[in-house]
Amino acid sequence: MKILLLGSGGREHAIARALRNDESTVLLAAPGNPGIGELAQLLELDILDGEAVAAAAREHGVDLVVVGPEAPLVAGVADAVRAAGIPVFGPSGAAAQLEGSKAFAKEVMEAAGVPTAQARVCTTLAQVDTALEEFGAPHVVKDDGLAAGKGVVVTEDRAAARAHAAACLGLAEDADLDAEGTPGKRVVIEDFLDGPEVSLFCICDGETAIPLAPAQDFKRAYDGGQGPNTGGMGAYSPLPWAPAGLSQEVVDTVALPVLREMARRGTPFSGLLYCGLALTSKGLRVVEFNVRFGDPETQVVLARLRSSLPQLLVAAARGELAAHPPLEWSEGAAVTVVLAAPGYPGTVTTGGEITGIDAANASAGAHVIHAGTKRVEAGGDVVQLVANGGRVLCVVGEGDDVPAARTAAYAALSHLALEGSHHRSDIAAQI
Ligand code: GLY
Repeated sequence: MKILLLGSGGREHAIARALRNDESTVLLAAPGNPGIGELAQLLELDILDGEAVAAAAREHGVDLVVVGPEAPLVAGVADAVRAAGIPVFGPSGAAAQLEGSKAFAKEVMEAAGVPTAQARVCTTLAQVDTALEEFGAPHVVKDDGLAAGKGVVVTEDRAAARAHAAACLGLAEDADLDAEGTPGKRVVIEDFLDGPEVSLFCICDGETAIPLAPAQDFKRAYDGGQGPNTGGMGAYSPLPWAPAGLSQEVVDTVALPVLREMARRGTPFSGLLYCGLALTSKGLRVVEFNVRFGDPETQVVLARLRSSLPQLLVAAARGELAAHPPLEWSEGAAVTVVLAAPGYPGTVTTGGEITGIDAANASAGAHVIHAGTKRVEAGGDVVQLVANGGRVLCVVGEGDDVPAARTAAYAALSHLALEGSHHRSDIAAQI
């Protein structure tokens, strides 16, 4: 099968690896990264331009387009590819609003009877103050729209919560209480959900949902869950502590009701429904939906998948998931640890040289995923690999159980060097 994969991060490198596990895959990718470039022919393409993506897919005779990140999905790239008659894994622009607007996702959950945190959608600071007062600390403040992993602030500090809300509305912190924010901007204030978080990815074709293995990611920047929120500093799978039957419960009480509600609205959801969940003292609650694979959870989930990923994704794209055989998984575990550039998740310093990747890849039970890297000419014939983003590399360790996978990941990580970089040392340490 000839597949065009869109994206350039760690998630896409992990997807590329899993797609290539099926020996029949011929892989193209745009724009890709140096790691993906070892597995795929890279194309120069504006991945936010649906017509350009459809034209490239047609020109290269691809059988399936897989859209990695949320931005092209929300921009309607999957619609253009579908309209060209090419199967695509990823929802329509309308269905991608489940991630594109937190307020829309809440509306769908309410209509579908899906358990989630109470929330208030605000357009003024007066509404924000009322909602912060109503729910109390810890405060959960979410930008309604896409914010490249920087939209959510969870804090005990009410002033910080209010400041983030003001920024989401495009207002100064000391703006008049009833001043309307920038037209179209909204902020969602939510009740805090206690309990451990789980990421469960469901492969969907509009009607059927097949869950992948549950994973957990570590969102805070520093050890012990300290520091600012990030896109994710590490992850592991499986979750030995998760209740038996969790995945089926999520399919029955979350994914299928959402699929039915989206179909009822005339915008069926086909692609990956990322269910971000909290297992609270009052039962399972949805924290958020995303409409694409999670990063870095994909690195551990797909490392364990033994079924063919191309066959699964093409079945979703063709609406044939009901006939798909049960998925097969490794009996073991996978742990990933993110190496982040200096400054991440704030202002990042890029351009630092990365060394040690070959040694890390040669380390027992481990492989390295490129998240934010690029190659640069360094004079003469020398080509350096340098940091090109906030999250630079993900080291994935595999083993018989989570502690063994963790040991493999950290042993490999010790070979990597990037001046000023940081990583968490407690990923999957307490399970
Ligand atoms: N790891 C969180 C995300 O992918 O959004």
